[in-house]
Amino acid sequence: MTNREVWNTRYAEKGAAWGTDPNEFVADRLGGIPACRVLDLGSGQGRNARWLAAAGHHVTAVDISDVATAQAQQEAVAAGLHIEFVAADLATWEPEPAGYDLVLLSYIQMSEEPRRLIHAKADRALRPGGRVFIVAHHLDNLEHGVGGPQSPDRLYTERDLEGDFPGYVIDESGVVVRHVERDDIRGDAIDVIFSATKPVR
Ligand SMILES: C[S@@+](CC[C@H](N)C(=O)[O-])C[C@H]1O[C@@H](n2cnc3c(N)ncnc32)[C@H](O)[C@@H]1O
Repeated sequence: MTNREVWNTRYAEKGAAWGTDPNEFVADRLGGIPACRVLDLGSGQGRNARWLAAAGHHVTAVDISDVATAQAQQEAVAAGLHIEFVAADLATWEPEPAGYDLVLLSYIQMSEEPRRLIHAKADRALRPGGRVFIVAHHLDNLEHGVGGPQSPDRLYTERDLEGDFPGYVIDESGVVVRHVERDDIRGDAIDVIFSATKPVR
């Protein structure tokens, strides 16, 4: 199966795979920021995109899964929200250069090469002075946390993320713990948050 088919199958089987509320760190760290142009990369069923659009942001949401994108579009319309949805593979999709004030990546777990490639796209998409916000499963989650990928090459450390955005001014980079009670998963998940501002060169 291709990557798209794998994700489509997962989204076709489950209802709200990651819940309908925004990720708690997205809501906590991005709540109250001035309205801006947001690019949500790997947006899934749109839980973060919807919350951001409801807060007044102009959101573009990109995901490889056309099934998830259609579900997200339906939810947005039902909520009366306008979001620009794009069903595309981030490996080939190109963002508008310097077209966004904020780029969000929420639990996009790639191995090193595609991770670097997508983070380079996030960098190109940001205007100087714009902000990247990443929340992901931390490498420590493998041994000490619940859920997430079970292969270490798809788990991140703060050093990986800092290395992908050289010259950025770091607002936050480190481990956070998220309590999970979902399906058969119960316990603490160990995440990494990376929030940084693109230098004005
Ligand atoms: C764990 S989900 C997270 C979804 C969403 N960001 C959230 O937090 O609810 C990972 C998402 O990445 C998407 N994805 C994986 N590889 C991708 C790629 N190459 N291009 C675009 N999206 C991709 C999947 O379809 C999936 O929706």
